[in-house]
Amino acid sequence: MRVIHFSGLAILALVRSSVAAAVQSNESSFSADAARYRWAPGTVISYKGSPDFRQATERWDIYKPPTYSVAITPAVEADVATAVKLARQQKVPLLATGGRHGISTTLAKMQGGVAIDLSKLNSISIDKKAVTITVGPGVRFGDVYEPLYKAGFQIQTGTATCPGMIGVTLGGGIGRLDGLQGLVLDALVSARIVLANGTLLEVSKTSNPDLFWGVQGAGQNFGVVTSATYKVQPLYKGGIWTSVDLIVPIEKNLSYFKAVSGMLPMPADLTVQTTAVYNTTLKRTQLLSSLVYAGPKEAGLKAMAPILNLGPFPFQNVSTLALDKLNENAMFQANAAICVKQQIFDVYGFNLKTFDVPTMVSVVRKMSDFFDTQPAARKSALLLETWPNQAVMAVPDDATAYPWRDATTYGRGLIEEIRQIELRWDTPGDPVEAAANSLGRDVRAALAATSGYGNLTVYVNYAWGDESLESIYGAKKLPRLARLKAQYDPSNVFQFYHALPTSYP
Ligand SMILES: Cc1cc2nc3c(=O)[nH]c(=O)nc-3n(C[C@H](O)[C@H](O)[C@H](O)COP(=O)(O)OP(=O)(O)OC[C@H]3O[C@@H](n4cnc5c(N)ncnc54)[C@H](O)[C@@H]3O)c2cc1C
Ligand SMILES: *[C@@H]1O[C@H](CO)[C@@H](O)[C@H](O)[C@H]1NC(C)=O
Ligand SMILES: *[C@@H]1O[C@H](CO)[C@@H](O)[C@H](O)[C@H]1NC(C)=O
Ligand SMILES: *[C@@H]1O[C@H](CO)[C@@H](O)[C@H](O)[C@H]1NC(C)=O
Ligand SMILES: *[C@@H]1O[C@H](CO)[C@@H](O)[C@H](O)[C@H]1NC(C)=O
Ligand SMILES: *[C@@H]1O[C@H](CO)[C@@H](O)[C@H](O)[C@H]1NC(C)=O
Ligand SMILES: *[C@@H]1O[C@H](CO)[C@@H](O)[C@H](O)[C@H]1NC(C)=O
Repeated sequence: MRVIHFSGLAILALVRSSVAAAVQSNESSFSADAARYRWAPGTVISYKGSPDFRQATERWDIYKPPTYSVAITPAVEADVATAVKLARQQKVPLLATGGRHGISTTLAKMQGGVAIDLSKLNSISIDKKAVTITVGPGVRFGDVYEPLYKAGFQIQTGTATCPGMIGVTLGGGIGRLDGLQGLVLDALVSARIVLANGTLLEVSKTSNPDLFWGVQGAGQNFGVVTSATYKVQPLYKGGIWTSVDLIVPIEKNLSYFKAVSGMLPMPADLTVQTTAVYNTTLKRTQLLSSLVYAGPKEAGLKAMAPILNLGPFPFQNVSTLALDKLNENAMFQANAAICVKQQIFDVYGFNLKTFDVPTMVSVVRKMSDFFDTQPAARKSALLLETWPNQAVMAVPDDATAYPWRDATTYGRGLIEEIRQIELRWDTPGDPVEAAANSLGRDVRAALAATSGYGNLTVYVNYAWGDESLESIYGAKKLPRLARLKAQYDPSNVFQFYHALPTSYP
């Protein structure tokens, strides 16, 4: 049976293919071709301008976003393969989307193509015997906390509830369990992936192990992952966590950074997030510190003592949280605001192996000067995620494509300009945007210089899009990644996320 739900009045769109020459397409030609394929009931094909299309393509970051003229929302795995084949037959570019929280500006190279919206593939199943969880690509982190917790298990995730679980995994997956359990991709046992030619493969340590290696760190480049199975762990310390939020006055920035630096290597059960933000009441910069400990309060406060000893603080909130509620509530309960869709986030990322105190003081000064002179960008922030990395380091470097296991701090969200969308599009040459990008590059370069890596290195999922391939994937991993790219996606269908080359060097 063929049930295709066509909706909306599409305006003739010029669909540009960046692979081949420009191709003219439109709703009638696309829908005629689409009708030649067999689709499952529930699969939706929608066109620009319709409510279904909006629902299928609305994303979180609207700074330099991808655009589409058609969206296909498969209801079953087989339709993912069909969608890939259809887009390729039409010679239009395609981009699969999971949580739609990608922040890379390379995604903007996709203009006017086909979105393969994976949101309907959102099944979750926990296998207590095998001690695994299997999720579809429409599952977001926030969807797995409660079912896992109720079953007595936990898994490493990112810190926000809204990004796509598989989408994050493909680049790494860093968060508060890095010290105890490793990267999210370290929990991956197997995945199912639709290749550029429509073939469905299973990848694991025993099935297509070479591709499995590449999927773990550069997985956006090889195909569309339709399902992933991860190993889970029993709840650590009964799933009881301690979260402390502090406002650290800017006068104490030096002693604060010294304290953080002195705690490194961070104990496996303790994480520190530091954010430099503007306080609109005080009209000056302040530091927010989020300390999170895996375990009960007394032991947590002891582990946090080097920072707590800098008090008293103008604001201090100690709370005990069950793991399934941790990411919603830790860090000033910022998650709800962070997850609001359609915001402008212009993000520069960087990794640090060493935490250089004078550099921290100097970049916080740069942020402070920026806030003073650029009132329109005062919702920007510099965010340092000082995650422990014992379990990340316990996995041999050559076991996966992920290149930065030795990082101890990840920077992100450097410039988060949250402004009205209309303003940005109406004024492409906005001076705030230029100033923000200039500061972003300046601060990133300052941090890279003392990062302990010699050069800029960046976690692929925090990369802006102007970095070198070596900075993102690591020179050591690139030859093997390029060979995999040449083997599995020689015509570069999956080219919009920090594209790998088909040969290197
Ligand atoms: C608010 C916020 C918080 C974040 N917190 C963290 C964090 O704590 N830890 C962390 O590691 N990262 C974090 N990130 C970064 C995150 O890892 C990346 O933005 C990631 O790419 C998001 O994946 P997604 O599926 O939501 O996004 P999408 O925009 O849907 O996808 C991003 C890229 O991945 C590809 N992709 C997605 N799903 C699939 C699939 N199933 N098969 C093939 N390709 C796919 C897409 O084609 C696209 O190229 C955060 C990002 C945001 C915006
Ligand atoms: C749509 O595209 C088809 C094939 O590319 C073409 O024959 C047709 O004229 C187009 N329709 C419109 C309204 O332009
Ligand atoms: C601004 O600073 C004051 C004094 O430190 C503090 O009480 C207030 O909570 C801060 N506001 C925000 C939004 O952080
Ligand atoms: C302290 O944090 C908890 C969540 O961790 C929250 O429920 C509570 O409202 C916070 N208290 C204040 C005063 O912000
Ligand atoms: C950070 O602390 C140093 C040392 O006390 C101080 O000189 C500097 O002004 C502080 N930074 C800001 C932005 O206030
Ligand atoms: C830094 O990058 C430059 C240019 O890409 C390269 O020549 C140099 O060897 C790199 N340095 C280190 C320490 O990796
Ligand atoms: C699809 O590509 C894979 C990987 O290159 C290859 O092994 C497979 O044979 C191809 N399938 C078809 C039908 O061409």
